[in-house]
Amino acid sequence: MCGIVGYIGKSNTSEILVDGLKELEYRGYDSAGIAILKSDKIEVYKALGKIVNLEEKVSHNECTLKEDGFSIGIGHTRWATHGKPTELNAHPHLGEYSYVVHNGIIENYKELKDELIEAGHKFVSQTDTEVIVHLFEFYFNQNNDADLSFDLTIKRLEGAYSILLITKSQQNKIFFMKHGSPMAIAKGKNEGEILFASSDAPLIGLASDVVYLEDGVSGVASSSGLTFSTKVSWSTLSNSKQFAQKDGFRFFMEKEIYEQSDVVVDSMMGRLQDDSISFDELDPSLLDGINEIKICACGTSYHAGLTSTYLFERFSKIRCSIEIASEFRYKEPLLTKDTLFVVISQSGETADTLEALKMAKNAGLKTIVVCNVDNSSMTRVADTTILTRAGIEKGVASTKAFSTQAVVLWMMALSFGDIKNNISKEVLKKEIKVLREVPLALKVEDSVHEKCKRLSKRYLHGHGFFFIGRDVFFPLALEGALKLKEISYLHAEGYPAGEMKHGPIALADPELFTIALMPQHLHYDKIKSNVEELSARDSTICAISPLPFDLADDFINTKKTDHYMLEFFEMLIVLQIFSMEITVRLGNDVDMPRNLAKSVTVE
Ligand code: M6R
Repeated sequence: MCGIVGYIGKSNTSEILVDGLKELEYRGYDSAGIAILKSDKIEVYKALGKIVNLEEKVSHNECTLKEDGFSIGIGHTRWATHGKPTELNAHPHLGEYSYVVHNGIIENYKELKDELIEAGHKFVSQTDTEVIVHLFEFYFNQNNDADLSFDLTIKRLEGAYSILLITKSQQNKIFFMKHGSPMAIAKGKNEGEILFASSDAPLIGLASDVVYLEDGVSGVASSSGLTFSTKVSWSTLSNSKQFAQKDGFRFFMEKEIYEQSDVVVDSMMGRLQDDSISFDELDPSLLDGINEIKICACGTSYHAGLTSTYLFERFSKIRCSIEIASEFRYKEPLLTKDTLFVVISQSGETADTLEALKMAKNAGLKTIVVCNVDNSSMTRVADTTILTRAGIEKGVASTKAFSTQAVVLWMMALSFGDIKNNISKEVLKKEIKVLREVPLALKVEDSVHEKCKRLSKRYLHGHGFFFIGRDVFFPLALEGALKLKEISYLHAEGYPAGEMKHGPIALADPELFTIALMPQHLHYDKIKSNVEELSARDSTICAISPLPFDLADDFINTKKTDHYMLEFFEMLIVLQIFSMEITVRLGNDVDMPRNLAKSVTVE
């Protein structure tokens, strides 16, 4: 996540930058900062937390670079990925005479940093971003050509990024590059004005023409205009801020579904090596004397946790169980110190999960929270925090929180197996290779979205839904059912497929819709038999599978992969979009369903 803005023009630069950052605050608010360059002076302001703190600092110091000609500036609001949320780690980052803001992750930053330190550059932050500005100055010190130095710099960067860079060595220019993370550039309404932003929300009202940069496009903006490394196409800017904050998607939920493929890259960043997995936050000695893992969570986080119980036992060979936090609290649980207590929460504020965590802590257990929000109540209580790095999730129906939790927990299961010497190097390597394919599995295919949209017509009138699956596809079935019921208000239940004949199958008739999760690589024949039994009793079957299934009334074809966890994420996308499209047809509020709140801070 993170958001960046930039401005060239004669208006009040600090005000435009700060207002722009406010529009991007939903992308992260660990810290914010701006740098303004005029003639050979650069003023920099940084503040921790929300943009309002930055705004106060800027107005308090009354930004001394007053506008009597062109000035240029860049700004950033941060969702911490590398390095804690501190002022030192806040953007813009400084070299000796240049500043950079960056959204994304520089994957090869460690090797670049080593190389630059060797060359005499001094680093002050723990971020990956700082290498960009030093690399630029490294080249500039050699060739004295800012344009060439910027080109040489971006050629060395690996990962996903959008960058704005200003330098005293070229006082009227902003250098930019987009690769993987979003960037829009607009021509302002006043003569010579150019604006940059991570989404078009900050541009609305200030500009009418915009270009949404494609990956690989770089260029230079100056008071005399814009040059791009390739041909770009301009479009007219929308007038709606709400629309813009959603990056053009209809709902935050839809935007967040589409974002999953990118955010899981952040979840894995710096944690995956070729043959090992490590979390900076996790000291391996935490597992000393641990013979059992107990997980507690609510809602979607519970489903991610349930998924992980299969993975922890399979890969780390540690006994693992999960409980719904509101049940756990009142059952007088037996807690022993050889149990590692793990809570999972998007918000870090869910009252029941927080209380369960406190109970475990008070009983002297070692505790971990897997959480999306740093500095939340749970991160302050737990011994160890492992952040999922999904970025702010606005839709009440969790989507990217779930996929990032599932990825992080799967990595933890593998890492624990390695620490305990319970997993072979071959298996570990193979799983790491599969993890790297998750972003692709989470990419939304147009054909899949279209299919869900078309099918949504058929699944509006019935007396309910069964979502069924086996193994990790059982928690996924629970999650599919929860997604559907919370936004469409239709009755849906998730079941382990093998459990149907122990009662639920009595409900089967043509008005009972079965959504069958039929992965190729996990118990395919078993689930096939369960679905056949339902079909024989006339339930309407929608099969989700990479393999064709004759008895299905409807079929959503997922891509063929060679691992069940890739099928898991492919199917997750289908379930999320299917629920959303049914909800659209029913005319419900997708982002703010009735009776629900994003964060349940009461028990
Ligand atoms: O913030 P948490 O992950 O602790 O929240 C737990 C549940 O309230 C949450 O997952 C809820 O079930 C969502 N609405 C599901 O989409």
